[in-house]
Amino acid sequence: MSNEVQTADERRKAIQVGADELGIDDAYISTLVDTFYGKVRAHPLLGPVFDEKIGDNWDVHLTRMKDFWASVAMNAGRYSGKPVPKHKALSRAQPWHFNIWLALFHETLEETAPAPGAVPYFMERAERIAESLQLAMFGVAGLGAPKPQTEKSP
Ligand code: HEM
Repeated sequence: MSNEVQTADERRKAIQVGADELGIDDAYISTLVDTFYGKVRAHPLLGPVFDEKIGDNWDVHLTRMKDFWASVAMNAGRYSGKPVPKHKALSRAQPWHFNIWLALFHETLEETAPAPGAVPYFMERAERIAESLQLAMFGVAGLGAPKPQTEKSP
């Protein structure tokens, strides 16, 4: 008899133990999300894409993103949204925005991570989700280099 196949419950527990060992808890997720979106909003190219959609609802967005990351990183089970249709509706988002998003996320992790291992832990998950969002949004997951907008501004 083999015990190699993990049950869903065992898998959930393993994720929680792994996160715990890296010092990842709700307090850290809160710092990560607040710091990251502070950088996003201040970024001249990425900020407007978010602000245009989120407007005055940043509190709601930040709470939702804390639930999302707690669920992704600690299996907290507090997020049950549907990111793909939300992102498909962002007409201004371009593939190269994802380069900036991932660079700011990495920078935030380097500055705040509770243990060095937390950086790849979050980056692997962010990159995987970014890739699937891009596939849904653009049909390709290749990341273009940031480039100046070619459209004429009004
Ligand atoms: C350039 C890249 C991205 C842009 C411009 C972007 C923008 C946005 C915006 C404007 C919203 C709010 C949508 C709404 O309320 O209708 C949102 C929601 C969200 N984003 Fe992103 N996003 C990006 C990348 C990512 C990545 C890489 C992840 C995950 C790793 C992510 C996860 C989420 C989630 C979970 C939500 C909440 C969806 C819900 O309402 O349940 N986003 N994003």
